[in-house]
Amino acid sequence: MARYLVTGGAGFIGSHLVEALHSDGHAVAVLDDLSTGRRENLPADAPLVVDDINRIGAHPDLWRGLDGCFHLAAVASVQRGTEDWAGCHDVNARGTIAVFEAARDHGVPVVYASSAAVYGDPIALPQAEDALLRPLTAYGADKLASELHARVAGGVHGVPTHGLRFFNVYGPRQDPRSPYSGVVSVFCDRLLADRPIVVHGDGAQSRDFVAVADVVRALRAALGAAALDAPVTNVCTGRSTSVLELSHTLARVIGVTPRVSHGPARVGDIRHSVGDPARLHETLGMTAETPLAEGLAALVAWARATAPA
Ligand SMILES: NC(=O)c1ccc[n+]([C@@H]2O[C@H](COP(=O)([O-])OP(=O)(O)OC[C@H]3O[C@@H](n4cnc5c(N)ncnc54)[C@H](O)[C@@H]3O)[C@@H](O)[C@H]2O)c1
Repeated sequence: MARYLVTGGAGFIGSHLVEALHSDGHAVAVLDDLSTGRRENLPADAPLVVDDINRIGAHPDLWRGLDGCFHLAAVASVQRGTEDWAGCHDVNARGTIAVFEAARDHGVPVVYASSAAVYGDPIALPQAEDALLRPLTAYGADKLASELHARVAGGVHGVPTHGLRFFNVYGPRQDPRSPYSGVVSVFCDRLLADRPIVVHGDGAQSRDFVAVADVVRALRAALGAAALDAPVTNVCTGRSTSVLELSHTLARVIGVTPRVSHGPARVGDIRHSVGDPARLHETLGMTAETPLAEGLAALVAWARATAPA
């Protein structure tokens, strides 16, 4: 049995990681301020400390005897980063440094969530890890800052880390009612309620949608590949799916005919984003292999099971 700490473990991705580690018999503790995460997302016997990420060093008991820390706590919203620039910086960049500091004090390796947002508007597709990094948003800039501080963590403070650049993650427990939700959960919610879906622009914009089950496998594999030179790895499928194609696949899984209306294109929306999965395969020995229809079926089953009667 190993011991892990998951920050942001009550959230969407974090709770899937906690569930997987817990069901393999490991001891998992969670620190989360429950700003978007929920206690109900966690196994009943998983210890939860409700606190701000910047106070993580104030809980030495959480760190004792740990085999690894997974740092997922963040304001995971580009829009919030725009509305509350400095406030989100405190969580997304400063909070990551707080995790690295505590990890240094207790000799613990850290796997942390970065994002495809570090790339900004891509010059070439697919986006590979050695591409020029030109984030367009505060959220992307803070994720890039986290990667740079991971280099400091390794080079100056001796903390092994591994950063994972998640592309568009989808799956059960992604909250469709949050105004900051991703396109998959919003479409799913609307199609299940037999409401029209709104596509911003022509719907030909494309993304690399990766199932949360594959993200959990990447997180676990990355701990064994944490190193002082602060490696970063894309977590992506390498498959490009347009927003319209997504709506049709999802409607097929649900068994409805989608009613699509088009709204104005979103200002600053990147047209195409797809990751290069070569390093994921080489470094972590895995591929994000869940077919889109299968991953969407898991989301739909969860949404149906949890829909209010
Ligand atoms: N979902 C995606 O497609 C995606 C893509 C790229 C990167 N990421 C990153 O993955 C990680 C997890 O994202 P998610 O989609 O599960 O989002 P989420 O909002 O469900 O999870 C984030 C968790 O962090 C907690 N949190 C927020 N601020 C905190 C603070 N100040 N102190 C302590 N806890 C705090 C929230 O309560 C929540 O449980 C984040 O770092 C996010 O930036 C997600």
